[in-house]
Parts: sequence; C-alpha cells; structure tokens
Amino acid sequence: MGFTIAIDGPAAAGKGTLSKAVAQHYGFGHLDTGLLYRAVGARMLDGMDPIAAAKALLAEDLAREGLRSPDVAQAASKVAIIPEVRAALVDFQRAYARRAGGAVLDGRDIGTVICPDAEAKLFVTAIPEVRARRRYDEMCAAGVQTDYETVLKDTIERDHRDSTRVDAPLIAAGDAVIIDTSQLDIDAAVAAAISAVDAAQARITP
Ligand code: CDP
Repeated sequence: MGFTIAIDGPAAAGKGTLSKAVAQHYGFGHLDTGLLYRAVGARMLDGMDPIAAAKALLAEDLAREGLRSPDVAQAASKVAIIPEVRAALVDFQRAYARRAGGAVLDGRDIGTVICPDAEAKLFVTAIPEVRARRRYDEMCAAGVQTDYETVLKDTIERDHRDSTRVDAPLIAAGDAVIIDTSQLDIDAAVAAAISAVDAAQARITP
C-alpha cells in the first residue's frame, strides 16, 4: 500500500535536502514538484506558451540543465499562478504520490491540493533572512555571482507571489506539522521530520 509524505513550505526553506533525507530514511521515492514548475518556467523563457508547455511536459524535462537558476525560479512562480498550468500538472503528481513503496513530494500545495489525504504532512519554514542566507551560500558554492541583498529580495518576492495567488496558494494544511528550521541544522530538522512521520505512521498502524 502507498504511503505519502507531503512536505510544503516557502522558497529555500530546505525542503529539498530534508525531503531527500526523509525519502532515504523510509526507502521511499522523492518528487521535487518545484521542478515541474521550473521546467515550465524555463520553456516560457524559451518563448513557449506556458499552458502548452505544461500539457506537453515529459519526465525527462525535469533533468534539463539550468532549472535551478534564479531567473527560472522567478519564471516558475509566474507560471505557477496560471490555473491551467497547475491543472495540467496534477495527474503526474498524484500518480507519483500513490506509487507502490511510498513517496515524498515536496512543494507548495501538496498537503492542501495535490494530496489532501497524505498520511503525513509537514510544513517546513524559516525566517526569510535565514532562507536567503542558505540560498546565497548554495549559490556561492555553485560559483554563481550574486549578493545577499538580491537573493533576499528575490526570496521575499517569490514568497509573496506564491502566498497571494488565488489558485493553490502557499499555506500550511490545517493538519500539517510545522517545522521551523530557523534555529535548526539539517540533522536536527531531519530528526524532527522523522519523528513527525513516525507519529503519523503510529496513528495509522498502532
Ligand atoms: O527550491 P525552492 O523552494 O526555491 O523553489 P521550488 O520548490 O523549486 O519552486 C519553484 C516555484 O515553483 C515556487 O516559487 C512556486 O511558485 C512553484 N511551485 C508551486 O507553485 N507549487 C509546487 N507544488 C511547487 C512549486
């Protein structure tokens, strides 16, 4: 039987690292749903209509180079406002969530819209300054030229667009466990996530 772990939260909250670690811990598959929107955003920057791009999206498009760039991140949050884009990506995400052997999906609307019946839901967050600092360090390590103020501004802008859109805004599901990683290192955040998922599992199979 499938077991779905939904992990949502704002930009650069550490969902990616956390989701990979949680998936590895339970032996589950992991889908970074942000990549779907990034792939559509990249196509829009190429000049393609975003709705057509979302309808034609293939799994291999998620491996395209450059999807992590700041320009693609902003484009992703612009195409993510369009209801037809979101609708075109629902089936792929739901099918992945129900794969045999369990799945971790991370994104913005997994616990609220894509998998409202997920067995475990986490909402991972941190104050914007901490998130921007982490993203800035990541970019410096990858050799990207930027400055902290620009990264902070981009992070706040994207959070605002994600939280205020009408369709599937970024918001914690009522039954999600909130993990604020502002003061947690990655090991502590992973431990908090695993204990929340263990508690959810115990509620299902006491
Ligand atoms: O890695 P980071 O948290 O910076 O971003 P991401 O998870 O790759 O998501 C990029 C953008 O895609 C977000 O800013 C959202 O606008 C959009 N997104 C979404 O709308 N719904 C999702 N389930 C995942 C991402």
